[in-house]
Amino acid sequence: MRAHCDKDWPFPKDFIIGSASSAYQIEGGWNTSGKGENNWDWYTHNKPWLIADGSNGDVACDSFYKYKEDVAILKDIGFDFYRFSISWSRIFPTGFSNETSKEGIQYYHDLIDELRSKGIEPFVTIYHWDHPQILEKMGGWVNELMVDFFTDFARLVFQEFGPKVRYFATINEPSFFCFGGYGGAVTAPAWNLTLNAEYLCMHNALKAHAKAYHMYDEEFRSTQNGKIGIVLTCQYFFGQDKNDTVTPDIAFQYDCGWTAHPIFSKLGDYPKIMRKRIDENSRIQGWPRSRLPTFTQKEIEYIRGTADYFGLNHYTSHIAVPVKRGTGEVWENDRGFHQAVDPKWPVSAASWLMMVPEGFGNILRRITKEYGNLPIYVTENGYADHGSLNDHERLKYYYAYLKEMLVAINDGCNVKGYTAWSFLDDFEWRGGYTTLFGIVHVDFNDPGRKRTYKKSAKWYKDLLKCRKLIPVHNYTNNN
Ligand code: NOJ
Repeated sequence: MRAHCDKDWPFPKDFIIGSASSAYQIEGGWNTSGKGENNWDWYTHNKPWLIADGSNGDVACDSFYKYKEDVAILKDIGFDFYRFSISWSRIFPTGFSNETSKEGIQYYHDLIDELRSKGIEPFVTIYHWDHPQILEKMGGWVNELMVDFFTDFARLVFQEFGPKVRYFATINEPSFFCFGGYGGAVTAPAWNLTLNAEYLCMHNALKAHAKAYHMYDEEFRSTQNGKIGIVLTCQYFFGQDKNDTVTPDIAFQYDCGWTAHPIFSKLGDYPKIMRKRIDENSRIQGWPRSRLPTFTQKEIEYIRGTADYFGLNHYTSHIAVPVKRGTGEVWENDRGFHQAVDPKWPVSAASWLMMVPEGFGNILRRITKEYGNLPIYVTENGYADHGSLNDHERLKYYYAYLKEMLVAINDGCNVKGYTAWSFLDDFEWRGGYTTLFGIVHVDFNDPGRKRTYKKSAKWYKDLLKCRKLIPVHNYTNNN
């Protein structure tokens, strides 16, 4: 079958296209190579009922052993780069930097060397949600010392791998693990200290990110010449009433701005609306100080501007619905709005993920308007199903979302790269192996974890040859 490259939708010349994974989701080998226990090992082994199918990442895609096969597939599809993360407890088995695992470090050297030998650029996420369990016992991201522990880990990553890596991301989606793991109970460590621990977690994550950025700047940039940023998750919010521009803006600030404003805005610090509402709510509850911690002016300056690019994970959109405030009450989770969906939006196998392509273009334009023209790398975008090889819905999603992105680029958004999430079907956190994002299928019943191309992998292979969008109808029949 010949690919019908769509001449109307070319990718810009220097645009890079890749795919992604993260350590805990694919590696397996949870207790080999001297690896220590991490928070996700502990969580899935001790609270399996919090995972949809009671599963874990003990073996996952077995990529710790099968990385050469993975790289061969990435090469065959033709990706420019591969985004993956480093398992902290594989490098520091005791959790601390005074003891390192040679075997663990070697694994990432081997992976990076294999990628580079095939002309694939490694894009390294330093932290994608898995940290040594001992650090979790000490309070995890709510403990301010995590800033130093993370910096120790990042230093080793730069020292060892920096000479061969041009793209680094410090932390993946802090708002997700702070909100869902410390404030809520949908992800590890499930502390559920709502409207409290998530703010403390983010405060430390922002400081940790900034410290790693400055360290790279001062000690490594001149010799390594890489780019370093952070990966944020930002949805797009529509107004319930077309004329309501205020509520979607507030929703943007809580969702995206919570992490982005301190780093990417001109003034730095948390968004004003969060400061105002959380301060007020804390007062009403009788707190002696705000539940949203305060940065000193020095800290604001230290965090502001600490990114060479904006790493964007975007999947879906919501409708922001304003909630009226009753007297003397804490206002809808400190926010004053709740999120709704349009019943016309197709829903993926993951109930939180609706197909709303126009939201993607809108969020790219919104980020550009809000934070200026810094390069944006779309570090994740993708669709969940139950693992079918004929992944028609995923193809529709990719086509429609990529088209919106190209329109946004034409509108002046400085988008430099795009990453399909995910490369392989993998351990989808609380979804276990029930909701799958891969463009390559993995047989989790096979001890060899056989990999098979889905239609979407074939489509990407053709697209990467054309460097243009390809209509999906030829891929959606059963050939
Ligand atoms: C964002 C996370 O970074 C990734 O690990 C996860 O699998 C996807 N979202 C899909 O939920």
